[in-house]
Amino acid sequence: MSEAAKSIEYYARALRAPRITDGYRDLGDRAREAGWSHEEYLAAVLGREVAEREASGAALRIRAARFPGAKTLEEFNFDHQPAADRNLVAHLGTGVFLEEARNVVLLGPPGTGKTHLAVGIGIKAARAGHRVLFDTATGWVTRLAEAHERGRLPQELAKLRRYKLLIVDEVGYIPFDQDSANLFFQLVSSRYEHASLVLTSNLAFSRWGEVFGDATVASAMIDRIVHHAEVLNLTGSSYRLRNRTTTRPQAQ
Ligand SMILES: Nc1ncnc2c1ncn2[C@@H]1O[C@H](COP(=O)(O)OP(=O)(O)OP(=O)(O)O)[C@@H](O)[C@H]1O
Ligand SMILES: [Mg+2]
Repeated sequence: MSEAAKSIEYYARALRAPRITDGYRDLGDRAREAGWSHEEYLAAVLGREVAEREASGAALRIRAARFPGAKTLEEFNFDHQPAADRNLVAHLGTGVFLEEARNVVLLGPPGTGKTHLAVGIGIKAARAGHRVLFDTATGWVTRLAEAHERGRLPQELAKLRRYKLLIVDEVGYIPFDQDSANLFFQLVSSRYEHASLVLTSNLAFSRWGEVFGDATVASAMIDRIVHHAEVLNLTGSSYRLRNRTTTRPQAQ
């Protein structure tokens, strides 16, 4: 190995940039063939290191987010869900709403793509460098109840505020008792104007009182959620059943 090669490998280790060691020779060959300047070569080596670092950072953030499956916005079929405004969804994919601590609420019947869109938005955010965490409404309440029992609810809420995006799936599938409703309210109010929430629900806002057992708590919560929010009302029949042909039982 040449002295230069040894030095490059030593420096790459010292910089904790081991991918430079993997790529500099191959890029050196391309530079010689294509007649790149020294500056162009250095830019290519550093550029590859940064691109690979970002890709592995994104993969780590996506794993850490605990999505229930890898659904992307690119896979979403807008022809099947005309109620979802393509431009709005594309805008949400840019993550600008996160900078403004805006929320997103996805409402609609079962199988209309609420979780799919929520995860797709979350994956975009994670790719853009943001910390994201996914759970169901029940999952969030369980987590907060545990923190509350340990006397550490404020610390838990502060920790969660460091996530740019929390996804709360399935608000409304399981009604909350009063303690759970209060914990959920604290989550919403702790993030209000600080950091974003994406929420999904099969129930229109007018029915959230049934979920939280109290119309006053529900309306205070909705007020905070929708003050700065995009609300998407998905419609139609379940995508899960789209290819199912109805077969009538044979008359005996
Ligand atoms: N428009 C769509 N394009 C592509 N896939 C879709 C679309 N809508 C739904 N799906 C797929 O159908 C399945 C059900 O969608 P999803 O889980 O998002 O529904 P949901 O609205 O969250 O329903 P639920 O209220 O039952 O949780 C998923 O596999 C999802 O990827
Ligand atoms: Mg769902």
